[in-house]
Parts: sequence; C-alpha cells; structure tokens
Amino acid sequence: MSDRKLLVTSALPYANGPIHLGHLVEYIQTDIWTRFQKQQGNECYFVCADDTHGTPIMLKADAEGITPEELIALVQKQHLADFTDFGIIFDNYHSTHSQENKTLSALIYQRLKEAGFIDSAEISQAFDPVKNMFLPDRFIKGQCPKCKAPDQYGDSCEVCGATYSPTELINAVSVISGEKPIEKKSLHYFFKLTDFTDMLKQWTTAGHLQPEVTNKLSEWFEHGLQKWDISRDAPYFGFEIPDTPGKYFYVWLDAPIGYMASFKNLCDKANLDFDEFWGKDSNAELYHFIGKDIIYFHALFWPAMLSGAGFRTPTAIFAHGFLTVNGEKMSKSRGTFIKARTYLEHLNPEYLRYYFAAKLNAGVDDIDLSFDDFTQRVNSDLIGKVVNIASRCSGFIKKRFGGKLSSNCSEPELFKEFINANKKIASLYEQREFGKAMREIMALADRANQYIDEKKPWLIAKDENTGTELHEVCSMGINLFRILITYLKPVLPILSHNSEIFLNINDQAWPTELTMPLLDHTINPFKALMTRVEKEKIDAVIEASKEDLSKEQTEIKNFEPIAETIEFDDFAKIDLRIAKIIKAELVEDADKLLQLTVDIGDETRNIFAGIKSAYAPEDLEGRMTVVVANLRPRKMRFGVSESMVLATGPGGKDLWLLSPDSGAKAGMKVK
Ligand code: MSP
Ligand code: ZN
Repeated sequence: MSDRKLLVTSALPYANGPIHLGHLVEYIQTDIWTRFQKQQGNECYFVCADDTHGTPIMLKADAEGITPEELIALVQKQHLADFTDFGIIFDNYHSTHSQENKTLSALIYQRLKEAGFIDSAEISQAFDPVKNMFLPDRFIKGQCPKCKAPDQYGDSCEVCGATYSPTELINAVSVISGEKPIEKKSLHYFFKLTDFTDMLKQWTTAGHLQPEVTNKLSEWFEHGLQKWDISRDAPYFGFEIPDTPGKYFYVWLDAPIGYMASFKNLCDKANLDFDEFWGKDSNAELYHFIGKDIIYFHALFWPAMLSGAGFRTPTAIFAHGFLTVNGEKMSKSRGTFIKARTYLEHLNPEYLRYYFAAKLNAGVDDIDLSFDDFTQRVNSDLIGKVVNIASRCSGFIKKRFGGKLSSNCSEPELFKEFINANKKIASLYEQREFGKAMREIMALADRANQYIDEKKPWLIAKDENTGTELHEVCSMGINLFRILITYLKPVLPILSHNSEIFLNINDQAWPTELTMPLLDHTINPFKALMTRVEKEKIDAVIEASKEDLSKEQTEIKNFEPIAETIEFDDFAKIDLRIAKIIKAELVEDADKLLQLTVDIGDETRNIFAGIKSAYAPEDLEGRMTVVVANLRPRKMRFGVSESMVLATGPGGKDLWLLSPDSGAKAGMKVK
C-alpha cells in the first residue's frame, strides 16, 4: 500500500440539462485517472455534485411548473444514472443545494469578510419590469450596437465578435417577458481579487497548472485583475448571504465550495478526516479536472478564496479541451449534440471510454469524435486485437485440456516483456497521457497476436503428437491476455471484469515485477466479451438526437410585437429580389453563419446569413429565395456581407428561408 492520499473532482454539471457526450470527455477522463490511482493501491476519493443554483435553473423550473428543488432532484437522478451507466463511479455524488455547502459557503464568506476581502458598491443593471428581476446578460437580446445584427445576446455579438454591455444593445428585450428592460440600481458585494494579485502570480507559475494555462493567465494578469461580483438580488435560487437579506451568493461562489461540501458529506458517512484533506497543512493531494472554459474560476478565484479563508489550495488543476463531433462543434441540427442517454440506448459505453482514452492527452486541445475513426479504432483495437487473443486460445484450452492452463510458462521472456511495461504504462496514466498509454498497450497486443500467428495453434492442433506445445502456446496467449486487460482496467472496467470472470481470477491489481503467470489454473468457458461497432447503431444515435431537438422546439415561443406603422414610401425603399443560391459554404469559427453566393439577375452577391443552425450548405445550393438587394454592404468579422436573405422562425432548427412559388426567376423584383 502506498501512502499517497488523493482527493479528485470533476466539474459539477449544471442541473438544468442532461449530460451529453461533451461532458463525458471530462467525467470519463477523471474516472480513468481515479480508477488507475485506486488500482495502484493509493487512497483516492473521487467526488462530484450537481451544480444547482442560479437564474437559468430557477427559470427552467418556473417554465416547467415545478419548484427548483423538484427540478434539481429530478435532474440529479438522471445525471447519476447516466454516469453510472457509463461506468463512472464516484465515491460521493452530492448537490450544491445541501446543508454542507450552505455551512461551508457561509464560513468561507465570513472568513473573507473578516479578513477585509469583501467590498460592496451600488451598481446599475438591466431589470425586467414585468418579471421584477435583474437580468443576466444571456437573458437579454437585441440588435448588435456595432454591426446591427439582430437577435444577439446582451454580452457579445456572434456575428461581428463585438463585446458590449447589455445597455448598449439596440431594441433590447428581456428573453423572459419580451419586455424592454429598464436600468435599476442595487447594492452588490464583491470579492477583492485584486488583493490576491501577488499570491496568484506566484501560484499560477508554481507548477499547479499546465504550461498553456499559465500562459493564458499571464495575459489576464497583463489586463489587471478586477474585483469579482459575488452577489445577486432576489429572486434567485441559491443561498442567502448571511446577515444580508434579499442578497444571494452568485452561483459561481458556492459551486467550487460544492467540491468541499461533497467531500464533507463523504467524511461524515465514511468516517474520514475533512481537515486532513482541506486544512492549511494538508499533505493530501487535491486535483480538479475541468474544461478549458472554466479555467478563470478554478485557477484564479478558487485558489484566492481558499487561501483568503485559510484553507489549502489545489495541488493541480487539469484542464481539457472541448469535444467536437466529426470535426465540428456539436450541433443539434446535425444530430451531433448527443445526450449520454441517447448514446446508451444504442451503443456500448466502453466503446466511448476507449475512444476518448485513445484521444486524450495532458493538454488542452479540443478532441474530435469522428464516427468513422471511432468505429475503426474500436473494432480494430478492442475486437481485432485484444478480445481476439482470448477467443483464439480459449477454445483449445476448453476442448483439449479441460479448461486448465499448462503447468509450464513456455516463453518466460515474452511474459516478462509484458510485465516490464508496467512502469512505463503507469507513468503515462499518471501524467494523463492516456492516448500514449493506449498505444503502448496495443503494441503489446500486437506482440501477442504476432506470437500466436507464428505458432499457429490451429495447425499444431491437427497433429496428435503435439499436445504439450498446443497447450503451452494457448496458455501463453491467455496469460498475455490477462496482463493486457489488467492494463486496460481503468479504461474498460466492464470488459476487464468480465475477463476476470472468464479467467477465474480476482480483481487485478497493477502488474509488477512480482506478477506470475497463471499456471495449472482452470479458466471458465469463453463468452463473447465485446461485439463490433455497427454503423446502423451510430446512424440510429444521430437520428434519435435529431428527434430530441424537434421535441424540444415545439416548446419555443416567439415574442415579437408588430412594429410601428410606416408609410408606403418607406416600404418602397426596400428593393426585394428573387435570388438563386448558387453556392453555400461553412464559415470557419462561426457558430451561426453560412456564406452564400446568390444570383440576383445581373449580378451575384456574397451574403453571410445566420442560418447554420437550420440548414446544411448542401440543402441550399440551387434553391430560390428572397433577398434585400439594396441594403448597404456591411463589413463583418468574416468578410463583407452584400445583402440579406429573408427567413422566419424562433431560431435554432426552426428557421425557415422564404422562397417564391415555382416560376419566379432570379432578379425579379418583389412588390
Ligand atoms: N457548473 C459549472 C461547473 C462548476 S465547477 C465548480 C459548469 N457546468 S457544465 O455542465 O456546463 O460543464 C461541466 C463540465 O463539462 C465543465 O468542465 C465543462 O468544461 C465540461 N464540458 C461541457 N461541455 C463540453 C464539451 N463540449 N467538451 C468538453 N467538455 C465540456 O461549467
Ligand atoms: Zn455585431
């Protein structure tokens, strides 16, 4: 038994939506790492919780006609079921809406306040006069003040990339009521992050972060840190700030404290010492796995809060990149925004665990799930290489030798070669270089298959006089298989467990120089351990993901009051033309845009249209539509847009281009 003690977390998923394949990158990565640590004999705890507070959750509960408490209880059950079915096993899964979290949040706040790190100031913010609540930026929409693109959020424009404050939006409306927001003042509380500038400059360069993360942070230091607004006004679903009626902790204050709260809850159940892990002088290791989008919270606010409140800071923060599917951001309309549950209905979770492991490394690069690559890798590595060894050798052992392995290890050198890889593979797992670890293991699998190919047991079996050789070759194959599945155990717990049953052995610890081959040992009959990935199943996942979307969107409502009356002359100024779309292309780095080339009779126009959520380029080429032909060209982030296509609908997949009845020709004026 080693004396390392580790506490490991994954980021707490929001309780307002289901787990999807993007999330799973992180939970699978953490699960592999913690399973590996435990297999090494380390004392390791993996804790997590649902992140339950904030405006979106409050409003979602509202919309569904239930209380936030009911919503978060329901979602937590679903999250946990999804994780469990993907083989992600937490030592504790808790909620940020818990007594432990309330107590710890209050304690940390009080300590920060007593130490002088909390400030207050009056600020002015957008307020929904109908709903009587302050509006987060994402709940305000309007026209971009810079490029005038419609339907942009209150913080930034997805068309031109401008960032601004919600008050600058043109014709802003509250997404909740459809009403124009007003400005309202209120008192807010701030955490004085600036007081931690020196501490953080030191901490972020002391080996707790990946080098690329440290670099990113140094840019933030150049811009100077700012005090952090940690309060929100009622109505808010969260914890009320002690002695401050009507003011609540901003969700991101109590969310990371949720890590501590989940562990505290475990301590009470399992009789562990909380301070041994969180106290200032703790010798335990503390690791947070997170996505690259939430680095700011974990690498700046969190260590500052902890140190300001007299707790230890994390040993390291491990950030990973984002998941793309088939080379693009997950997209609801393409059916690549795949929920964990939808995947589970059709495919084996261990395919995905292996695929992610094969793609993951210690960096923050995005990782791509390409379904062709996925199929090919799983089929060739897991079925073709690993499982194949057992299926090739087990038949003879059963039929000819009564299920018993030989009493002699005929190739001790080869067995040793497999055992000797243990340090290298362990160090790759430890460093989160899972892709490299998988390549090492597959190289060994190739070695085992090569050995069997050379010995050709199927030929030896034909000769009555070579029984011993057949027995030894097949037993050797089984012994090599056993080492492989032991190395793969953190990634493929179910396959490994079923293999242990087949091999008639206990839960396998990490191989060491002392590991001996199984000799004179009876194994169980071989049953198929894993089947091949089938293309039809993948197609079914994508189809079902498209259906999920259309169900969601029947709910969407549209608030667009009829605009002010205009004169006929105003209308006549707009020159609408029939256009033929001759080319449609994706725009790199743009989430919403497609680039269109349209024919409007005598000329062609280049248009950037925000219709990517509803149309794939190939759906558009050749079709007729209507454009505003005399709109002044606009310079956008990606180029000049020379016109505008007309479309309707609430957005997302429900967006429909206008098109003329057949017979209309490109260039005709619409009157
Ligand atoms: N609730 C916050 C985290 C609070 S931690 C104190 C949150 N929740 S989340 O549900 O949006 O995301 C949970 C984790 O999943 C985050 O680490 C996030 O980066 C990760 N991912 C969410 N979508 C992802 C991808 N598409 N790809 C990879 N990781 C993704 O953030
Ligand atoms: Zn803009």
